[in-house]
Amino acid sequence: MRKLEDLQLLIAKSVSELKYPVYPAELYEPISYILALGGKRMRPALLLMACDLFGGDVESALPPALAIEVFHNFTLMHDDIMDNAPIRRGKITVHEKWNQNVAILSGDVMLIEGYKLMMQVRNEILRQVLDVFNNTAVGVCEGQQLDMTFETSDNISIAEYINMIRLKTAVVLGGALKIGALIGNADQQDADLLCEFGEQLGIAFQLQDDILDVYGNPEKFGKQVGGDIISNKKTYLLIKALELVKNEQVIDLNKWLSTTTFNHSEKVTAVTQIYNQLDIRRFAEEEMQAYAEKAFEALEKINLPEDSKQYLRDFADGLLVREY
Ligand code: IPE
Ligand code: IPE
Ligand code: MG
Ligand code: MG
Ligand code: MG
Repeated sequence: MRKLEDLQLLIAKSVSELKYPVYPAELYEPISYILALGGKRMRPALLLMACDLFGGDVESALPPALAIEVFHNFTLMHDDIMDNAPIRRGKITVHEKWNQNVAILSGDVMLIEGYKLMMQVRNEILRQVLDVFNNTAVGVCEGQQLDMTFETSDNISIAEYINMIRLKTAVVLGGALKIGALIGNADQQDADLLCEFGEQLGIAFQLQDDILDVYGNPEKFGKQVGGDIISNKKTYLLIKALELVKNEQVIDLNKWLSTTTFNHSEKVTAVTQIYNQLDIRRFAEEEMQAYAEKAFEALEKINLPEDSKQYLRDFADGLLVREY
């Protein structure tokens, strides 16, 4: 079993070795820019861990691991346009630094570069791996569309929200683990259970991201705090608040949700105050914990030695650690 730090070093080195043409500069520079901003590199780490835990060759899993990271960064580039986000990983977003068309096309070519990397898996599993990758990519698009549609929809339920975050975020964690397991020659049932572990963990992870969007430390978070409030994202926090508000708070919250001209920080402060009064953060943390438990239940059923399961449990705990 390789140490997590060693896998992370391997990923960092391989990402830094990804080279793209210099011409046209506006197409390729944003790729190097966003990849150089770093991030947790959690998805390629999951892929390599899965391969390693089932006894596969980690080096041969590097191209697909990079594929998942390049794909993830493509989704971020487009997500930042859709979310009107000014900051990503503490730096100005691609569509603000260049322009929207650059972010669209550069993102498009990243998706294709991701596929080129994914195609480097060995022939006997190529079809199966691409099938997982395709389903993952379609899931992200479905989730992202629901996320946008929900901004202007009323009465979104917690179940609809969970399904939306499962699609936009969790399927990528599940997909990364499943591809790693397939490369490591895991049997189908174990690969599917590991995928289930990843999906439940991914739901917990997006719940945490939604909590951090309100309560995160702007420096550590690396994104604009309050962005979800500004754009009326139907996060767990907002849905729960809408369920719990009473009396004059109902009018106040609805006023902030319906106004189209407002001062950003005033709205963020006011809505956060309502969340605080309703103890929304605690509810969201409990929900996040519940999905972490579901992830661990799936993990239990996998045919792997206890120390391998503990390795994945430790990784999940590290990912969901509270950093406010
Ligand atoms: C950001 O993902 C998008 C979400 C699914 C919340 P990460 O939080 O993994 O982003 P980086 O890659 O570490 O920056
Ligand atoms: C991320 O959701 C989902 C994808 C990038 C596919 P968010 O919009 O919450 O991600 P951040 O917070 O901008 O990273
Ligand atoms: Mg988004
Ligand atoms: Mg976003
Ligand atoms: Mg977010």
